[in-house]
Amino acid sequence: MSTALPAPTCRRLEKAARAAVRQAYAPYSKFRVGAAVLAGSGKIYRGCNVENAAYGLCNCAERTAIFSAVAAGERLIRAVVVYTPTAQPTAPCGACRQVINEFGPDAVVVSVCATAARLETTLAALLPAAFGPGSLASSPSAKPAVS
Ligand code: THU
Repeated sequence: MSTALPAPTCRRLEKAARAAVRQAYAPYSKFRVGAAVLAGSGKIYRGCNVENAAYGLCNCAERTAIFSAVAAGERLIRAVVVYTPTAQPTAPCGACRQVINEFGPDAVVVSVCATAARLETTLAALLPAAFGPGSLASSPSAKPAVS
């Protein structure tokens, strides 16, 4: 899949991800992350990381954004943009790659930061040979019952 997103769409996603980082709740790591996803409807959904005193329950910005989109009725993620106020861009963690794969196996993934450095790639490049909904095909009882 091409990493090409229309430039105006990419700019809107970047702006949304930069705005989302303001809501980050990261008192433990102090590592603030904002994300924005472009859903199948064309709408943009935002998310930030939300940490917890029980550290294992911390939720990444990407997953917050994707879960918001799905909760709004979306089932396709076309693009994910991650913003961190760092010198280098931050790629989605492994858990987020798996969640992106569920709804956006062909998604474009862009990471931007406080400098001009950026990473533009695809979910397929970040998570090759992914385990996903199709992997359950040989086990009918395990197939998702709803779309
Ligand atoms: N984090 C994200 O929000 N996205 C990522 O892809 C990597 C990590 C968050 C989780 C945690 O709140 C903090 O960054 C430090 O790991």
